[in-house]
Amino acid sequence: MNHCRICHKQLSPFMSFGKMPIANGFLTQQDFAKEQFFELAPAFCNNCQMLQIIEQPAPEAMFHENYAFFSQTSAHMTKHFATLANQIQTDYLSTTRNPFIVELGSNDGILLQHFAKANIRHLGIEPSANVAKVAQQHGVNTLTTFFTTKVAEQILNTYGAADIITASNVMCHLPNLLDIAEGIALLLKPTGYLIFEDPYLGDVIEKTSYDQIYDEHVFLFSVNSVANTFSKVGLEIIDAICQPTHGGSMRYILATKGKNPIHHRVTSQLHYEETLKLQEINTYLNFKKNCEHSKEQLLSLLDNLIAENHKVVGYAATSKSTTVINYCNITTKHLQYICDTTPIKQGKFSPGAHIPITAYETFANNYPDYAVLFAWNHAKEIFAKEQNYNQQGGKWLTFVPNVKIL
Ligand code: TMP
Ligand code: ZN
Repeated sequence: MNHCRICHKQLSPFMSFGKMPIANGFLTQQDFAKEQFFELAPAFCNNCQMLQIIEQPAPEAMFHENYAFFSQTSAHMTKHFATLANQIQTDYLSTTRNPFIVELGSNDGILLQHFAKANIRHLGIEPSANVAKVAQQHGVNTLTTFFTTKVAEQILNTYGAADIITASNVMCHLPNLLDIAEGIALLLKPTGYLIFEDPYLGDVIEKTSYDQIYDEHVFLFSVNSVANTFSKVGLEIIDAICQPTHGGSMRYILATKGKNPIHHRVTSQLHYEETLKLQEINTYLNFKKNCEHSKEQLLSLLDNLIAENHKVVGYAATSKSTTVINYCNITTKHLQYICDTTPIKQGKFSPGAHIPITAYETFANNYPDYAVLFAWNHAKEIFAKEQNYNQQGGKWLTFVPNVKIL
């Protein structure tokens, strides 16, 4: 029997995407035989409103010394975090003496490097050694470990309490979220702020962006479910700000209950969640139907293009693409390769379907007829730099919010 990770009520999945490999598990041919699979099945807890996947591979199988996701691969994300660093300093730290900021899942230091440069006391917690090393090379003080209440205690003893605890695209990765929340409450000053952002459930439901569901995303948050979870440790949401990143995210600002005014955005977002009917199981059954429809459309479109002898490739080997490719049964018959700018992914094969991952130049030096835009969340940045591809008659294939050719 499965239980909700937040409120421990019984849980059953509303759909299954089938057996999935590790989303960021790009692999070599020698590793094909030992590739791990798990069942990707999301469930909705109608008690605490938390959307979560039932089964998740062990964290060590996902975050390790060969972790393939480097935050600084996108120019847009680099800018996003520079702006966030600036906002944190002006909105929350301008009157704080000798402030201390802690980031959970600090990756390659994309955010904290700005605090390091400004000589602000900071500490990044990052379990993947390779990305942590890049951060350290940028002068970011980094602890290579998973964050727990025990680690929170150690930090508290060594550095003192934190004025800001932040996490971007990390909190929804943590199956032991309650333990994490306790650690945060312990480490945070009573006057401090917890600022985190993650892909937003409202966007996933509205756009049928089911590719946000993969092993690392054990939860998909709403304002409602985040409020329920963190109220257990005495924190409340004082602001909720929509973000365009990752195809639709939400930034949550939390503080000790009763210490701050609550921004009207929180109430209006909760109201929006009611109009979207995020609290009703029927919404998720409908989402399941939309996923099935999207799958049928994408696969038949690809089958037709191949039957017409078109050259089709994938653009950007995102973690999200692992769900799309394996759920829709996209194979090497459909895509000749997937190009990606991340060196660690190049020369390897995509998880599950084993489509070759090539350097960006493979695409640029010999355009295909069609490219499936797996990094649809970076569409603006990509279309701007690929104008030449369009001018040469190259076409894009996208699937969020609908399957279509651009
Ligand atoms: P993300 O969607 O999870 O941020 O992953 C981005 C992936 O897409 C990463 O592997 C880098 C790749 N990518 C490209 O190959 N070209 C691009 O222009 C962009 C923006 C990303
Ligand atoms: Zn629950």
